[in-house]
This record gives sequence, C-alpha cells and structure tokens, in this order.
Amino acid sequence: MELPYAEPFKIKMVEPIKNSTKEQRLQWIKEANYNLFNLTSDKVFIDLLTDSGTGAMSDRQWSEMMLGDESYAGSSSFIKLKNTVKKITGFEYFLPTHQGRAAENVLFSALVKEGDIVPGNSHFDTTKGHIEFRKAKAVDCTIKEAFDTTINHPFKGNLDLTLLEAVFKKTPKEKIPFVVVTVTCNTAGGQPVSMENIKAVSALCKKYEIPLYFDAARFAENAYFIKKREKGYEHKPIKEICKEFFAYGDGMTMSAKKDGLVNMGGFVALNNEEVFKKAMVFNIMFEGFITYGGMNGRDMGALSVGLDEATEYTYLESRVEQVAFLGEKITSYGIPVQQPFGGHAIFVDATKFLPNIPREQFTAQTLAIELYIEGGIRGVEIGTILADRDPETRENRYPELESVRLAIPRRTYTDNHMNYIAAVLKNVYDKRNEIISGYQIVDEAPIMRHFTVKLEKI
Ligand code: F0G
Repeated sequence: MELPYAEPFKIKMVEPIKNSTKEQRLQWIKEANYNLFNLTSDKVFIDLLTDSGTGAMSDRQWSEMMLGDESYAGSSSFIKLKNTVKKITGFEYFLPTHQGRAAENVLFSALVKEGDIVPGNSHFDTTKGHIEFRKAKAVDCTIKEAFDTTINHPFKGNLDLTLLEAVFKKTPKEKIPFVVVTVTCNTAGGQPVSMENIKAVSALCKKYEIPLYFDAARFAENAYFIKKREKGYEHKPIKEICKEFFAYGDGMTMSAKKDGLVNMGGFVALNNEEVFKKAMVFNIMFEGFITYGGMNGRDMGALSVGLDEATEYTYLESRVEQVAFLGEKITSYGIPVQQPFGGHAIFVDATKFLPNIPREQFTAQTLAIELYIEGGIRGVEIGTILADRDPETRENRYPELESVRLAIPRRTYTDNHMNYIAAVLKNVYDKRNEIISGYQIVDEAPIMRHFTVKLEKI
C-alpha cells in the first residue's frame, strides 16, 4: 500500500492542558460576558481561537534564540533574517515590525490617505481597520463562489477580475495606492489564490499603473495549495512557487506569527526604494530602529529559521492535511463547513448549523459559545460581530458568510485532539434544534469591537 504522510518531527517537550466540567464552563462564559476573548487560557481545553503565534518552534529555532544578537543597530540576527526574506520572497528592502498589523501600520502610513480606495480579494479585519482608520475605503473583490460554502472551487481566495477592473475604471489612479492580495484569504475561509489569478491581477495592476502588495501571513500554505491544485506546479518545490508569486507583486506585509512559525513578529518587504524610505520613517516612529523594528535579535533569528522550515513540503503537508483530517471528520457527521477545507482552519457554516438563530442575534457567536460549553474548545466568530458597523451609517454589517473558525495552531495538537474537536461539534449538532435564542450586545468599542464586546443572552 501507499504509505501515508506523517509529521516530519517528533515531540521533545509537552505542555499539560486540563479539561473542565460543563457546569464550570457555563459559569465562566457568563462571567466572560459571552466573549471568548475574555476567557483565561486555563479555562480552555483546546484553543482554536487562532493559529497566530500559537504554534510550536523547532529545536533549530530554539537554538537560534541562543545565538540572538541584541545589538541596537545592525545585529547579525537582523542580517540573517533580511537575507532569508530576500531568499524566500525576492524583495530587496525589508523592515522588521512587531507583528502583522504593525507592518500594515508602517506601510499604510506611507501610502494610504483620506479618500483612497484599496481593493483586494477580501481584507483581513486589521487591514480593513488600518485602511478605514485613515478614512480610506477597503473594497473586497471576492469571487462569488467564495460565498457559497458548498461549492468546491479550488481557489476561493481569487479576486474577481471584473470587479477589480470596475474599481480601477471608476477611480482615478491617484486614489488607489495599491491592491492587497491576501494569501491565503483568511476572511474567505483560509482559501488560496491561484498563480493564474495572481498573474492576471498583476497584469491588470500594471495596465492601470497600480502597485500590488501581498498580505502574506499564510503565503507558504498558499504555495502548498498551488502545488497540489494548479496544473504545472505539481513538481515545483514550494520555495520556487513562493518566489514566483512574490515576483508578481511590489511588496508585502507579513504577520510572522503564522507562516513564520514564531510566536511574535512581522515585517514589510518591498522593491521600491522611495516607498521604503517613506515607510522607514514610520517604522522608526512606531516600531523601533530599522534593524529591529519591535523584535528581539533572538526572535529575528528564530523567524529566519521559521521561514525556511515553513516553506518545506513535508512540514506543509502534515500541517494542511491535519486541518483536512479534521474537516473530513466533521463533514462525515453531516455538519456544514466551508468547502474545500482551508489551509489553517475549518470554517463551520453557522447559518446552516443553527437555522433557528437569526443573524441579528449573532448566529456564529452563539455557535462558538455552544462549542465552548460542550467541550471546552475555543473557536472564533467570523461573522456579524467581526464585520462591525458601517463607518458611515453605523448599522451592523452582515457579511455573506457567518461562520465559526476553528483555527489549528501549527505543530501543536495531535490527531486525537482533532477527533475530540469533531465529537464536540457532533454533540452540539445533534441538539441544534434545542438552541433557539442567541445574544445581544450590551457594550462595544467604536472600532474592532469583537475583541472587547460584551454580550448577554436573549
Ligand atoms: N493579515 C492576515 C491575513 C491575518 O490573518 C492577520 C492576523 C493579520 C494580517 C494581522 O497580523 O495578528 O500579526 O497583527 N490574523 C490573526 C488571526 C489574528 O487570528 O487570523 P497580526
């Protein structure tokens, strides 16, 4: 028989986790104002809140921590990281930042002004936040297939080229500082963008003289999907695929907490010297000197190794296929999830899961709370609470998809954990008709409300 894949690592250190009772969890979630962000981690058994900064580092990364050079300027750890970024992305200029949104802050401070339009496949919430904070507008040009969780389109992260060109046609080019392509597209369900689409977007951008930047948090997972699903790439090494798609862009912002395989870090990388010079000033202002930008020397060293490991095929196979293993298991119970499975997470279709809960009562949040109470697993709402209010009308925005994301940390949980998670979902699914009321907001922040929102049961 053909041998299955197996993790290209063994476990050297373990961290105990503890389960709790349903009664305890009912009490805790009430005390947390029904906001899963308010739970302390000791009250969570399996934490699927995010795959961001929650993964395990390798022994090679830990040894790099010991070699960290903490010099304020020009440290060897910085040089190591700069060289790795150049090797993997091809981008000439590089600015470290403390995480992804900081990279957005630095780059957007240099490029985005009031009244601008920033199109993309589907902006992540911090990206949208940084655009809207500058009184500019983020426009999603998502392909329509992405909104139907049952369609098995291989590249649901693709941009709709007609929508994108329509934006280009009706907006003067001075008002479009750049296009953002998010790889993989988190908001659309961890869905990849094809090389063909990246190529076409790049050509369109060149025609209208608009720069193209990647939000590259999960670029390696995107490359894995290209290798598995796109003709002509099946024999290409992951690193070559990454280099190829980055070559279609002018730069990137990176949250290294994902495909950098570190717990904290980020960067901006780009080709244009003018933009680099502008961004550099904001980097110094917001992050730190340009050779550390909010990161320790040791963290830059670990990131340099992490980027190398994350772009290895055997690692990516075990990573993405573990997510798919969970997806298959959940689907086998008849539970509706975004198809095909995302690279970093399974997105459960909450509207289909809980048809009795109207969206005004936050369907996905209701489901996330039920999953916590049932089995101590912490997912995250990717729905109406996250979508926030329209900045002009202040009305709730109802996104096309109302889902609960079960994000899988990298190299952290085993397949037994995946089986446990699937069983929790099944138990809640079996009693879905008894869940008949949701939640209402009692307190919310004016922007990015999901982190601190307080809710009460209706
Ligand atoms: N872009 C994407 C696509 C992201 O998913 C994130 C973070 C960021 C940018 C911001 O990076 O957190 O390092 O500041 N996503 C996390 C998540 C928080 O849970 O999906 P950051």
